[in-house]
Amino acid sequence: MRATTLLAMTAVATIAMPAAVRAQVTPRPDGAEARQGQAIVRVVALTDSILRVRIGRDGAMPEDASWAVDRATRARSVAVTPAADGFATKAVRVRFGADGGLRVEDLAGHVISADTGPVRFDGKAFTLAKAMPQGEHYFGMGDKTGGLDRRGKTFVDWNTDAFGFTGGEDPIYKSIPFFIGVGGEGGSYGLFLDNTWRTWFDFGHRDDRTLAFGGPDGPIDYYLIAGPTTADVVRRYTDLTGKAPLTPRWALGYQQSRYSYMSADELRAVAARLRQERVPTDVLWLDIDFQDRNRPFTVDKNAFPNLKGLIGDMKGQGFRVVTITDLHVAKAEGQGYAPYDSGTRTDEFVHRADGSTYVAPVWPGPSVFPDFTQAKTRVWWGDLFADQVRMGVAGAWNDMNEPAIFETPTKTMPDDVVHRIVSDDFGRRTATHAEIHNVYGMENTRATYDGLRRLAPDERAFVMTRASYAGGQRYSVTWTGDNLATWDHLKLSVQQIINLGLSGFSYGAADVGGFAGGPSADLLTRWFQIGAFYPVFRDHSAKGTPRAEPWVDGPEHLAIRRRFVEERYRLMPYLYALAEQNARTGDPILRPVFYDYPAAMRMSCDQSWTFTLGRSLLVAPSPSPEQPRDYDVCLPAGGWYDYWTGQRAGVPQQQAGPGQIQSATQATGVATVLGDRVTVTPRIDTLPVFVRAGTILPRQPLVQSTAEVPNGPLQLDVYPGEDCRGDLYADDGHSMAFTRGGFLRQAVTCRMTDNGMTIAFGARTGRFAPWWKQIRMVVHGWQGAGVVSAGRRAVAAQGDAAAGTLSFTLPDQRKAGDVTLARQ
Ligand code: GLC
Repeated sequence: MRATTLLAMTAVATIAMPAAVRAQVTPRPDGAEARQGQAIVRVVALTDSILRVRIGRDGAMPEDASWAVDRATRARSVAVTPAADGFATKAVRVRFGADGGLRVEDLAGHVISADTGPVRFDGKAFTLAKAMPQGEHYFGMGDKTGGLDRRGKTFVDWNTDAFGFTGGEDPIYKSIPFFIGVGGEGGSYGLFLDNTWRTWFDFGHRDDRTLAFGGPDGPIDYYLIAGPTTADVVRRYTDLTGKAPLTPRWALGYQQSRYSYMSADELRAVAARLRQERVPTDVLWLDIDFQDRNRPFTVDKNAFPNLKGLIGDMKGQGFRVVTITDLHVAKAEGQGYAPYDSGTRTDEFVHRADGSTYVAPVWPGPSVFPDFTQAKTRVWWGDLFADQVRMGVAGAWNDMNEPAIFETPTKTMPDDVVHRIVSDDFGRRTATHAEIHNVYGMENTRATYDGLRRLAPDERAFVMTRASYAGGQRYSVTWTGDNLATWDHLKLSVQQIINLGLSGFSYGAADVGGFAGGPSADLLTRWFQIGAFYPVFRDHSAKGTPRAEPWVDGPEHLAIRRRFVEERYRLMPYLYALAEQNARTGDPILRPVFYDYPAAMRMSCDQSWTFTLGRSLLVAPSPSPEQPRDYDVCLPAGGWYDYWTGQRAGVPQQQAGPGQIQSATQATGVATVLGDRVTVTPRIDTLPVFVRAGTILPRQPLVQSTAEVPNGPLQLDVYPGEDCRGDLYADDGHSMAFTRGGFLRQAVTCRMTDNGMTIAFGARTGRFAPWWKQIRMVVHGWQGAGVVSAGRRAVAAQGDAAAGTLSFTLPDQRKAGDVTLARQ
C-alpha cells in the first residue's frame, strides 16, 4: 500500500449520514446498489444474515465465480424490505451513507460493521476501510502466527513454505482471508474477502480505529456474515465455503510419523514398539523417502520391496498407512515415469509466459507442476492414485503445495507463470500465478480428494495438506507445517489450531514435538498432553533431529505420554460425535473458550491458549508452559468438574467442603479454589482439564487402535448442571454408509428433580447397531445412596461417598425412555 493511500484512508472520519445528502440507492428485490465515486457497490442478501458485497470498479461487476463458494450458494438470495438509504432483512439493516459507504446494523440499531469511507483505488489495487471499535477483537485468518487475537497486527495472504517459522512470521502456509470480529456492539460478525490475490489485512496496526484490507488486483467481492454469536458466524461461514466432511474415525487416533521411516523394516519396528509399549496408535506415515528418488507415485523397491504386503500386515495390527504425495512431478523424460509421460502427452503442466512448460527444482530435482485450475487436470491427477488405493494406502499427504520451489528467493513460482482456468463457472481463460498462487494448494487437494472418492466410492477420503485457501476444509485436513521444538511453538500450535477451526478448518494438527530442533523430555511430554486434545494428533519430526517417538526419553516420560494417548482413546465416542457435529454444523472440534462461553472474553485470567474440546471439556495449560510457577484458570459461569477426579472444581472457597479442595489438589498439583478460579501449580505429569456442569460425557473402554472393538460397556459420566446433555454418535467409522442411514444418533439429557435426577434417553435415529450392549452410568456430585429405575424396572446402583458418585449399568437404551434417580 502506498503512503498516500494510507493517509487518505485514515483521514476519513467514521461515516456520518446527514439526512439531506443521501447516496443514490437503487433497490433490488434481494438487496440494493449505490454509487461510491467511480464504483458501484452491490449488496445482495444471500440469507437474512449473509450479505454479499461486490464492488464494480468502473461500473461493471467483477466476474461472478469463486474457488471457495459454489455457484448454488452464490445464487441464493432472500427478498428484502427496501428503505430510502438501503434495505433490511429479517436480521440486519443495510444503510448507504452519503458517500456510498456501507453500514450494517442489527435490527436494534447496533453497528455490526461500518465503512470509514469509500473504496480506494491505486491502479488495480484496492483498499477498504472499516471502523474498528475499541474492545473488538479479531480471530480467524487461518494458520497465521502472532498469537490468538489479530487486533493490532497486520497480515498478508501469500501461501509460503515457511520452514522453522517464528512466532510472528507472516505470511506462512495458508491464505484464508476470513476473520471474525468479536466483542463489538452488534455481536460477533464475519468478513470473508473472496479474492485469491496477495490480499492484506490491517487490524488497527497503523491506525487503531481502522480495520483496513485490500488487494493488488482481482475482484472486490466479500461476504459480511452477521452473528450475533461466534458460533452463528462460523456455521454460516461454513454454509458458504463448505463443511469439512466427516473424517474416517481412525484419523482421530494417534498418528506416528517421521521424516522419514526409511524402510519397511524400520516401519515394522516402530509399529512393533508402539504395540509393545502399549501406546494406542492408528496411523503410520511414510514421508518422501519411501519413494524412488522422491518421485511422486513411485515406491523405492529396495527399501519397500512389497508395500502392499507391508500395508496389509500393518492393517492386521490395527494400523493404517498414509503416504506422502507431493504435487511436483519429476521431469524424467524417456524414463518410463508415467505421471510425467501421461501429463506431458495431455498437456497437464503449467506453462511459462512464453508457452513452454515451467520447470523448477523441488525434492525430485527438476520438476513440472500440474495445472490444477483445469478440471481435466484434476481428474488426471486424481486417477494417478489408483495404484495407491489398490495397495491399501489409507490416505494422501499433499505437502509442498504453496507451491514450494527450491533455489529461488521467492520460494515459489514466478508471478507470470500461466495457469489455464477451465473449471466451475469461471470464464475459460488464462490467469497468472499471481492470481492462482493462493488457491493452487487447495485445488491440489481437491484433485486428490475427488480422485480418492472416485477410486473408492464407498470410503471416506483422507487428505492432509500444508497449503490451502478458504473452503479447503471440503477436501483436506491440515497441519501447521515446519514448526520448531520450542515451548513458544507448543503454545502457538494451539492458537493456530483455534484460528484454523474458526476459519472452517476444524481438523487442525501441529507436529507433536516440533518438526525442527529436538524437544527436551519435558517439552515432548507436554506436547503429548496437549496434542492428545488436538483434532488431529500426529507426532512428526525432521530428518537429522533427535527421534521423537513416545518412548525416547525413558519409561517415566513414556508412562505420562501413554496415559494421555489412552485418555484420548477413552474419549473417542465424544471426539467422534464432535467430528460428526462439525460435519453438519461447522462447529470446530477444538475451540476458543469464548465460542461456547462468550463471557470468557471478559475474564481476567490469561486465556491465550486455554481451549475447549466441544463445549464440555476445557483444557487449561499454563500461560507460560516452560515455567513452573502457579497460574490461575478462570472457569466460565455455570460450574465445572475436575475431569481427572470427577469432583466439582472452582466453587467458592468458603462453600467447598474439605474433600473437594483435597481432590482438586490431587488433580492439578496443589490447587486452591478461589471463586470461579482454580490456582494451579504445574506438574509435569498433569494437565488441568475440566468438564462443564451439565454434561453427559460418553467414553469407551481402552483399545490399542480404533480398529479394535471396545470390550465392555459404553460409559456415560453425568455431571449435573444446567442444560445437561450429551450426544451419542456411532457408525462403521470408514465407509459412506452413514449417508444412507448407517449411523446411530441419540441425545441424552438430564434434569434435577426434587429428590434426585431424571436422565432421559432420546429417540435413536439411524440404523447402525453399536458395539456396546450395555451402558455404564456414573453420576457425579451425588451424595449418599440412591434408588434407580429405568421405566418400571429397578436397577442396582452403587454409591461411593468418597468419590461422590452413584453408578449403575443399563442395557443399551435403544428406545427413548427415562431413568430416574432418587436420593435415599
Ligand atoms: C516438508 C514438510 C515436512 C516433511 C518434509 C519432507 O518440510 O513440511 O512435514 O517431513 O517436507 O517431506
